[in-house]
Amino acid sequence: MKLSLYTLSDCQLDRKEYERIVDETKRAILSSFNDDSAYSGLDPLRLRKEISSLSILDDEGIGFDAALKEIKEKVMSNLLRTWSRSYMPHLHSPALLESLAAEMIISAFNDSMDSWDQGPAATEIEVKVIKDLLTLYGFDSTKGDGAFTSGGSQSNMTAIIAARDGYIKERLGWDVKKKGLPSVFPRLRLYTSAISHFSMDKSAHILGLGYDAVRHIPVNERCQVDIPSFEKMVREDIDAGLLPFMAVATLGSTDFGSIDSTDRMREITREYGMRLHLDAAYGSALILSERERERLGNVSLADSITIDFHKMFLLPISCSAILFQKKEDTEPFELHADYLNREEDEEDGFINLVDKGMQTTRRFDALKVLFSFKARGRKSYASMIEKDLDNARYAYQMLKNDDSFIAPVYPELSSLVFCLKGGDEINVRVRRHLLSEGIVIGQTKMDGAVMLKLTLLNPNLEKSDLDSLIAHIKEIAGRI
Ligand SMILES: Cc1ncc(COP(=O)(O)O)c(C=O)c1O
Repeated sequence: MKLSLYTLSDCQLDRKEYERIVDETKRAILSSFNDDSAYSGLDPLRLRKEISSLSILDDEGIGFDAALKEIKEKVMSNLLRTWSRSYMPHLHSPALLESLAAEMIISAFNDSMDSWDQGPAATEIEVKVIKDLLTLYGFDSTKGDGAFTSGGSQSNMTAIIAARDGYIKERLGWDVKKKGLPSVFPRLRLYTSAISHFSMDKSAHILGLGYDAVRHIPVNERCQVDIPSFEKMVREDIDAGLLPFMAVATLGSTDFGSIDSTDRMREITREYGMRLHLDAAYGSALILSERERERLGNVSLADSITIDFHKMFLLPISCSAILFQKKEDTEPFELHADYLNREEDEEDGFINLVDKGMQTTRRFDALKVLFSFKARGRKSYASMIEKDLDNARYAYQMLKNDDSFIAPVYPELSSLVFCLKGGDEINVRVRRHLLSEGIVIGQTKMDGAVMLKLTLLNPNLEKSDLDSLIAHIKEIAGRI
């Protein structure tokens, strides 16, 4: 008999061990929690002390069973439990059950997306999923293209690279890929709302443009880009000799879920020869709901769009995609290496996806989209998304009707910003107290004041849970 016990193989011993390991791991996960709390409640110092007692690399291993036991006791017991109905601070969702099966397949096969020979079916599936997503968002699938990425930040940066290089090539006749940034680069400007995601600023820095290249447009009372201010800023900047190359509309701002107007921002960007990217990391899931999709506006007008499947689509991290209206926009990422993605491969029909994005080795995340879309279908997805929105609207009304709270902005999506009357201190202390009880809610700022935040992504969350949470917040505030 062949002896292995290294990796999955055709050897019976490995197959049996794989089954055992999966069964034991499932058991350990399921027995690591026995209530619906989101967190054990350990404070950072106690948790650090517990973790620091772990020895990581000894000369002799302790074997699977002992390692699992230690990890169960010291790690799993303090992991954040995203499925908990007491977890609602961030755009960080629980994972749908069938997507856990997809993750098992992805890691067991460990295919990689950089070249066709590292993932033949995986490559063809990603190509097919991207094509279908282009159609879903109203892009022409024969003309557009895209890729899976590590998350919304990378999708946004990918869009900014394409817009920067495309603009500089078209307007200044300069090849950034070959020659680097032209001498006029400090004059390039990107426009996005004052409450857009910080990945715009971070990308501007990493891409050599600097934070000053990002112009933050004021928002209106619904936390959307104020269109007259946007146009005024662009005009003034052009008069000052600057080069507005791109605008980013946020479809679902991180804190407020507010949705900028794609249609109005397209009018302005078209007039001034700028690219328009949509950061729909949060709001992109609305496309699946007939009841809500119109609120996204006409997304097909954009040059590119960020979609995060690890937010409202409830798929495990990481899972994001960038879609481009024109396939030429992936050209900045194409670079041939003799060992990986030879030019003759392409001529013979082998697609090497390393040519379409920033990463080289990359997981087969498209399988999670395929699995969950197939398993659930559009209608079931829509009902989960609509439930999130209904919950947020319900909680907003509750807070509005209660004298103890201020809820300044109607929730366009499923996140809700509010505060207890009485100043910053009480809000900070209430959130910290909840954390120590294993209830995790968010905290942000609005106009300089500390606000609490609920981000509702969990399809198991009921209105009664929100009733209890709001009553509990009031009760804690009364006590402290
Ligand atoms: C509007 C928006 N864009 C982009 C991102 C970044 O996404 P990721 O965390 O997947 O990089 C976020 C994250 O919350 C977001 O809210």
